Amino acid sequence: MATRPNWLMRNHKIFEKHTFILIAGILVVVAIGGLIEIAPLFYLKNTIEKVEGVRPYTPLELAGQNIYIREGCNTCHSQMIRPLRDEVERYGHYSLAAESMYDHPFQWGSKRTGPDLARVGGKYSDEWQKQHLINPRSLVPESIMPPYAFMEDRKIDLSTIANEMRTLRQAGVPYTDDMILRAQDDAKAQAGGDYDVDSFRADYDTLSGRTGTVNVRDFDAMRGDPSELDALISYLQVLGTMVDFSTYEAGDLDNKR
Ligand code: HEC
Repeated sequence: MATRPNWLMRNHKIFEKHTFILIAGILVVVAIGGLIEIAPLFYLKNTIEKVEGVRPYTPLELAGQNIYIREGCNTCHSQMIRPLRDEVERYGHYSLAAESMYDHPFQWGSKRTGPDLARVGGKYSDEWQKQHLINPRSLVPESIMPPYAFMEDRKIDLSTIANEMRTLRQAGVPYTDDMILRAQDDAKAQAGGDYDVDSFRADYDTLSGRTGTVNVRDFDAMRGDPSELDALISYLQVLGTMVDFSTYEAGDLDNKR
């Protein structure tokens, strides 16, 4: 005896026999799923937890990031350590969203011809970085990284840095009026020039909530106005160093995962 198909089976035929009804049905279901995932984001003020230590880049570091992008370092190097065991063992604590909250544009990347640089700050001396940029193969014989020796002779152009900071402020980077006004002097001060460093350091530390997050020294060991090497090395040396992971405790978001 044939069993009588139940109500659901009988009515499901409508969807199976009519393409357009099926498409309409799919749209309704996908829309419900989409609403549940997307709607709450409109009510959250921020999806990034602020983490102590993270601060905007100083003018010199910002100039360094510009050079990094100009030279396409990001085409070979990512800046995002994924929470996978092999990556964490090789590069250190996985990257937090907050660590790139002031990066415009962010430098996460997915292509690693060279190693990830998210925590390269402090890994090598300034001298190593300088030598490596001038001639990578003098330190790592098998390296395929191009040399950037020309940066040694080029001074950074600081004429646009204040305007850049103003623009970043519109994107939510909390530079103060003072910081923008002093941008050029701050850049020279950080590279070991004869300028006031105390208030400069204090201002950036205040934004970070920690002390000693600004490296002030002559990065390229050459006197005079900051070179492109100064800027780029100051940027590399701060990457991944703002958060103190010896005291960092993952917030609620992390614990629930
Ligand atoms: C063609 C790809 C390529 C480009 C472009 C490139 N690199 Fe590299 N980079 C590498 C490779 C491969 C290595 C690993 C070998 C070595 O250390 O030289 C490396 C290593 C490094 C390291 C050492 C990382 C570590 O943890 O040991 C730093 C720092 C670095 N690169 C910075 C830069 C910067 C800054 C730029 C842009 C000015 C740049 N790279 C451009 C391929 C590249």
